Amino acid sequence: MPRAIVTGAAGFLGSHLCTKLVSNGWDVVGYDNLLTGDMDNLVHLERQERFSFVRHDVTEYINVDGDVDWVLHWASPASPIDYLQFPIQTMKVGSLGTWRALGVAKDKGAGFVLASTSEVYGDPQVHPQPESYWGHVNPVGPRGVYDEAKRYAEALSMAYQRQHGVRVKLVRIFNTYGPRMRRQDGRAVPTFMDQALGGLPLTVHGDGSQTRSLCYVDDLIEGIWRFVNSDLTGPVNIGNPREISVRELAEMVARIANSDSEVVFGERPIDDPEVRCPDISLAQNKLGWEPQVALENGLARTIDWARSAWF
Ligand SMILES: NC(=O)c1ccc[n+]([C@@H]2O[C@H](COP(=O)([O-])OP(=O)(O)OC[C@H]3O[C@@H](n4cnc5c(N)ncnc54)[C@H](O)[C@@H]3O)[C@@H](O)[C@H]2O)c1
Repeated sequence: MPRAIVTGAAGFLGSHLCTKLVSNGWDVVGYDNLLTGDMDNLVHLERQERFSFVRHDVTEYINVDGDVDWVLHWASPASPIDYLQFPIQTMKVGSLGTWRALGVAKDKGAGFVLASTSEVYGDPQVHPQPESYWGHVNPVGPRGVYDEAKRYAEALSMAYQRQHGVRVKLVRIFNTYGPRMRRQDGRAVPTFMDQALGGLPLTVHGDGSQTRSLCYVDDLIEGIWRFVNSDLTGPVNIGNPREISVRELAEMVARIANSDSEVVFGERPIDDPEVRCPDISLAQNKLGWEPQVALENGLARTIDWARSAWF
């Protein structure tokens, strides 16, 4: 069975990814420095023989014993409040961390999968966003640290493919939600859930007409699993193309949580994207993948989880 290393293993998506790989019989070594991750996310894997964990900052040399078939590079702050709090760490893990992880793949003759992001499209002028769109990013704005780190990571990965023949795969992940998101992570879904369940007003940025497309975590992980096991190199968009305004999202969360909290409107963050929606034709055609979990159902599952995990 393949052996993989997963950076960012203790994070929201990294922990779900490790679970998927281990449950399919893979051996997995998770690396994480716990900057934004939490060991609680890996509790269910503690007793698994096929899983082990190394606390390590992947911007430093990554020492791995034995053979490695895949390096899955998931380490990076991903929530705007995290990358605004840790701008230099975000740029370092996207640059040095990607370089170290690619070094492991080159050294071990392993495949390399980069967790890239829809943020490489910035505040997009093409809608929905196909993989061929080059993006519209403000490099000097506060969000630039994340967007440009990921754009650099994509370019560096392609350089390793061209110069060293590393088998590189790029996946552009769109907004994902589900169990194990942090209560204070600042993204719309956990914020609205926390407010709705706590009986507080739901705070929408601006007038809430900006749109988001939200993918349930199980759908996302299934898409990544198919991508890893395919011949496709990407970049490939994985996300849910159902678009919803942030205001509608707040109202939907309140309804599903049976909350009578009101929706209030506040200031809009700088460079907040106006629209966000993946064109997933490539994933549909080449991976036979599309999301299966309707937003209402995914939110209901996540709210059930949050009720017991947070309150
Ligand atoms: N969640 C989303 O909607 C989304 C969307 C697009 C892309 N992504 C990408 O997916 C990946 C995971 O995102 P997430 O939502 O799980 O975020 P997360 O913050 O929950 O997880 C990131 C993990 O990386 C770890 N990390 C950060 N810097 C590190 C370093 N230098 N060395 C070792 N570990 C380090 C953190 O401690 C954390 O456990 C990120 O690369 C992110 O850019 C996520």
